Amino acid sequence: MSARTFDGRAVAAAVLADVRAEVEAMEVAPQLVFVRASDDPAGASYVRSKGKRAGTAGVRHETRVVPEDATNDDLQAVLQDLNDDPDVDGILVQLPLYLHLDADAALRAIAPEKDVDALHPVNVGRLWRGRAAWAPATPAGLLRILDHYEVPLEGREVVVVGRSDLVGKPAAALFLGRNATVTVAHSRTRDLAAVTRRADVLVAAAGVPGMITPEHVQAGAVVLDVGQAPVDGVLRGDVAPDVARVAGALTPTPGGTGPMTVAMVVANTVRAARARRGTA
Ligand code: GUN
Repeated sequence: MSARTFDGRAVAAAVLADVRAEVEAMEVAPQLVFVRASDDPAGASYVRSKGKRAGTAGVRHETRVVPEDATNDDLQAVLQDLNDDPDVDGILVQLPLYLHLDADAALRAIAPEKDVDALHPVNVGRLWRGRAAWAPATPAGLLRILDHYEVPLEGREVVVVGRSDLVGKPAAALFLGRNATVTVAHSRTRDLAAVTRRADVLVAAAGVPGMITPEHVQAGAVVLDVGQAPVDGVLRGDVAPDVARVAGALTPTPGGTGPMTVAMVVANTVRAARARRGTA
């Protein structure tokens, strides 16, 4: 038997179509501003792709490029300017930044109500308390894809491999909010396969291509692959292809969780706009 494919491209397209309908009903289209302070080519490509999808959904967007010789103060000034601009609804500082820039300070400088990545400490706190108006895009996309395919979470075992601030930790908070039993495994976890085999839903978000093999997966489990790294010029996930023999369902790479992340950033921008304009 081979695993069912969870089609991230199709679910993302449905999310964007819903967002577009919502934007069309608004008097003023929301505006999202990307801040790029890095020459990282992957970051540039993510920003282009998020901008393209924002356009698809009718969300206005622009990119502020911060030059390499900018100081932390210069970056803070850019963010303050965007915070103060009433026509800007969402701000996204693409990570990583140039090494001399302080990413934590940059994330703290974004007004929480415009923080569409939900990475400001106030939004992180709201998420863990179950009071967030929106959640970081990648984990939000995981929940959306599970909801689309009607995967139940309440009382079930979810194992998240990876403990990053962008994915692993917020994913754990969201799954807890759905009353799942959540385990966060990571590079120091002893006998990883014994832990991951408990999972009804397994999230691979360690950034190690092919690390999840059939021996890590309970028969019939739902496996969500967040890893995306180029290996010999081909984009590979954290999940080895032969996991399809064991899993019940699987997200492909590419075309799985990646398009969901992009769509959820755009959806978050509309939520932020509505909340700030008092039309939520
Ligand atoms: N770099 C990699 N993933 C992300 C993300 O989700 N948000 C931001 N801002 N930067 C990233």
